[in-house]
Amino acid sequence: MGTINTFLVALRKSCTRVFLFFSFFWFLILLGGCVDKPEPYEPTPFSLEIPSFFPTYLNIPEDNPLTVEGIALGRRLFYDTRVCGYTGLDPDSMMSCATCHKQEKNFRIGTDDPRFPGGDAYGLTGQYTHHAVMPLVNLVFNHEGYFWNGSVYKNNPNVNARNIEDIVLMAILAPDEMNSTAAKTIAALQTDSNYPEMFEKAFGTPEITMDRIKKAIAQFIRTLVSGNSKFDRYLKGLETLTPDEMQGYILFSTEEGADCFHCHGGAGTPLFTTNLFYNNGRTDVFNDPMDRFSVTGNDWDHGAYRAPSLRNVMVSGPYMHDGHFKTIDEVLEFYNAGLVYSPYISPLMHKIDQGGMMLTPIQINQLKAFLHTLTDEEFLTNPKHSKP
Ligand code: HEC
Ligand code: HEC
Repeated sequence: MGTINTFLVALRKSCTRVFLFFSFFWFLILLGGCVDKPEPYEPTPFSLEIPSFFPTYLNIPEDNPLTVEGIALGRRLFYDTRVCGYTGLDPDSMMSCATCHKQEKNFRIGTDDPRFPGGDAYGLTGQYTHHAVMPLVNLVFNHEGYFWNGSVYKNNPNVNARNIEDIVLMAILAPDEMNSTAAKTIAALQTDSNYPEMFEKAFGTPEITMDRIKKAIAQFIRTLVSGNSKFDRYLKGLETLTPDEMQGYILFSTEEGADCFHCHGGAGTPLFTTNLFYNNGRTDVFNDPMDRFSVTGNDWDHGAYRAPSLRNVMVSGPYMHDGHFKTIDEVLEFYNAGLVYSPYISPLMHKIDQGGMMLTPIQINQLKAFLHTLTDEEFLTNPKHSKP
């Protein structure tokens, strides 16, 4: 009996030792797992809110999905004057995207900026931009090409000019905009100790690279969606239009009226643009080397440009690709009686034979009242789009 007992005690002891040994072993493995493994990179997917009646087909490249962290970074970069490659100069000698794309002006430049009198923008070197600044609104719904002439488009053989990401880089490098280099811009951003963490959260590691700058700013721009104007609320049955606004809407959307809807949309095309390119009869002299013809080589594209969205158009001047018209009254005067015939004018400019819409002053005011209903105050003041 005694020997059996001693044997059992010895056996229990050795079992405990083996158990303790393996427990300790597992503990070490677990500890190693907790301490050594870096936090997994998991940016938060951002789901874009699409306004009622808007198209749901979005222009978001597969390699740059929207994330909460990417958008936050992009927003900060959009407003950061160091993106132009300098630090510490006085603000007038520096430039951010928002210098030319101001939220309250529909992300355009406006006509009353003391630095850009008349709304003709120029870059850091003083060189004027070739065309007028474009609004940054609802660009995520555009599949037809960016810029006035659509030269930045998805299947462009020039891989450096396919989407908003590429436009970010162009703006940073262009002599008529920021005139920087990738190295200068990255070095200037490296002076800010907040960025490494923001880049890490958005892209997995703290490195500041041009590819990431492009992606983050493009993400932010894709969130600039305007779809809550009075007209939108009218379509949803939440608000009524005044008789003048309603008359203006009818003029806008009928061929007998002002006939604007073919190119600028309406209830069925709530972006208020087709995003297509037309010659709308501004002139018969075509010497702009960057019109739509320069992209397609199609004869009928001489003097053609992308029809801009008319959302927030009342705050969005100066108007047209050359910023020729400073006020909406001047634009309406042109469409009313100032059309110029050329063989290239769009066949959709039905009123060319009579020189324009030929509306009465009362009708012009009604049309203007309708255009006012496209102003989206929420978009123009949304804190999510403003300087962080
Ligand atoms: C000096 C003024 C200026 C600055 C600064 C500027 N832009 Fe622009 N932006 C323009 C002009 C002018 C156009 C129109 C160019 C054209 O079509 O010929 C434009 C067009 C665009 C477009 C195309 C919009 C469309 O509907 O096709 C995007 C996107 C854009 N800019 C983004 C940016 C970003 C991002 C930055 C900052 C990195 C920036 N811009 C800085 C003047 C500026
Ligand atoms: C055949 C197509 C077409 C029709 C019809 C048309 N437009 Fe346009 N619209 C354009 C194009 C193209 C541009 C840009 C032209 C340019 O940049 O030179 C433009 C520019 C504008 C602009 C300036 C927008 C900006 O942000 O710069 C306004 C405002 C405008 N149109 C209002 C109207 C109104 C109001 C009507 C009806 C009376 C109308 N358009 C009819 C094609 C058209």
